[in-house]
Amino acid sequence: MRIYRAKDYEDMSRKAANILSAQVILKPNSVLGLATGESPLGVYRQLVEWYRKGDLDFSGVTAINLDEYQGLAPDAAQSYRRFMWENFFSRINIRPENLHIPDGLAEDAQAECERYEAVIRGAGGIDMQLLGLGHNGHIGFNEPGAAFEKETHRVALTQSTIEANSRFFGRSADGQGLAEQMPSHAYTMGIRSIMQARRILVIVSGARKAEIVKRAFFGAITPEVPASVLQLHNDVTLVADATALEQL
Ligand code: GLP
Repeated sequence: MRIYRAKDYEDMSRKAANILSAQVILKPNSVLGLATGESPLGVYRQLVEWYRKGDLDFSGVTAINLDEYQGLAPDAAQSYRRFMWENFFSRINIRPENLHIPDGLAEDAQAECERYEAVIRGAGGIDMQLLGLGHNGHIGFNEPGAAFEKETHRVALTQSTIEANSRFFGRSADGQGLAEQMPSHAYTMGIRSIMQARRILVIVSGARKAEIVKRAFFGAITPEVPASVLQLHNDVTLVADATALEQL
């Protein structure tokens, strides 16, 4: 594993965007596995800026997102499809037919998981997978559990994930996230789909992630810390800011 120490969030975002840019420049028809959350926002901003300057061309790129909430319409304010569209896809020249995100409204959950696996296979696998790191060590929505789930699956979100993400669903008067507004389940790519990506790029920022960074990358490999499986991949780059690395 390579570790790049960034000064702060902006520096982390630029470094990670550089790595993704190199991937797209060297292989214009790259299949990128993409992530949501606060961590990748700066990366997407930087990539959009370079696209606008004419330095990047996404017309041959395929994007396959990690996950989506179950029960949210594609255009719902908090859906990951909308997040990706507003923060990235609508600002670059990627082709709409090359965008893939699980369908939160699919009627048959099992069929939707199988469809998504077929999408990944059909694209020839993922060249570079961008990952954030959940507070509890989740990647995508692969939550801590008794076993690594291999394939795209429907998952019950843990209480800690609901607490961490409920802030995106509005806030009550006392500043707490509206957990009751948040879906209880999600679709996520499985650990095998992620591990089969040819290259993996993990971005982490902030002191609140310092402990989980240590456990994920230097602790025991266990499904209790899903990201720890990345220690077994042979091409992982971690770009983290100084505060996220402070416990190493
Ligand atoms: C969500 C996403 C993950 C993401 C994680 C961390 O739960 N499903 O893919 O990595 O949150 O989010 P953040 O970057 O906002 O800390």
